[in-house]
Amino acid sequence: MTAALDDRPVLALETSCDETAVALYGAAGLIAHTLHSQIKLHAEYGGVVPELASRDHVSRILPLTRAVLTEAGLKPADLGGIAYTAGPGLIGALMVGAAAAAGLAAALDVPLIGIHHMEGHLLAPMLEMPAPAFPFVALLVSGGHTLLVEVQGIGQYTLLGESLDDAVGEAFDKTAKLLGLPYPGGPELARLAELGRAGVFRFPRPMTDRPGLDFSFSGLKTAVLTALPRDANAQTRADLARGFEDAVTETLAIKCARALDATGHRTLVVAGGVGANLRLRERLNVLAAKRKGQVFFPRKDFCTDNAAMIAYAGWMRRSEGLPAVQGFPTRARWPLTELQAVSA
Ligand code: KG4
Ligand code: ZN
Repeated sequence: MTAALDDRPVLALETSCDETAVALYGAAGLIAHTLHSQIKLHAEYGGVVPELASRDHVSRILPLTRAVLTEAGLKPADLGGIAYTAGPGLIGALMVGAAAAAGLAAALDVPLIGIHHMEGHLLAPMLEMPAPAFPFVALLVSGGHTLLVEVQGIGQYTLLGESLDDAVGEAFDKTAKLLGLPYPGGPELARLAELGRAGVFRFPRPMTDRPGLDFSFSGLKTAVLTALPRDANAQTRADLARGFEDAVTETLAIKCARALDATGHRTLVVAGGVGANLRLRERLNVLAAKRKGQVFFPRKDFCTDNAAMIAYAGWMRRSEGLPAVQGFPTRARWPLTELQAVSA
């Protein structure tokens, strides 16, 4: 006989990059979540400065933890486990969340649960109503990853395709920089593209002219740079942003359709920061409708980094929690396909 699962709430800490986030998940679902974004801290450098990120996490993590517990009306002693993002991410930033989580788990004598950041993203749509049912194809599009994954269940992941160079979010950020937009570039570029005209600039749809599910986005920013006139006016920059966004979102949609064909699944799940992009959402909604399938997205705030998704994954994996005294592993790099399946 297996021991009954501890149904007390799981507290989750997310510190993999430039957001400090804390959330609570329990038997009735998501209880509370909060987040501090470091955007202002890194803006003047045009990108995330890892050492500044780590230091800011150090000063935020415990006040945010207290705030979430107060909001939920819970005491530390009410918790049944502590989840944290164990990787992939900036190693110093990860270590802050890991050390705080391990300290709490040891003090409370509850299990410590290390979560894969991309599994968190992948499962974020599970926090919505209705939630997608397994099996499905997941498109994970963040600042560090572009993955197409076949998902049979939690921890049952088959990699179908990935970017051979820049991740989609990275391509958005780098192209935004070229166009003179501030960090973080993705949402800024999307805003500028709203003012752009479709078809004025037509950029390649990389790797769609051959079979396969891999991506390549680094050439697109070069294509934008080549097309960018030295004295580009506001309308030209907006047209370039629109051309870039159309090329990226159409490429993603073509590969999603192929992945659905290859696996025979009818459900598509989209997650990660670029999942907040409205044109991508629009395009994939049209694709799903045409195929009489379904597409699921997390709410916009849960597309980008957050602790609610880590809390959900931690809750689902709470049976795997380890005593904190065994250490608190962190991994800057960590293939999603190495995760263990969770029995239903
Ligand atoms: O998932 P995420 O918050 O962090 C990582 O795990 O990387 O993704 C951040 C990425 C950034 O590259 C950001 O520019 C991009 O997601 N992003 C967007 C939008 N919102 C965030 N890209 C395009 N359109 C958006 N609306
Ligand atoms: Zn992320």
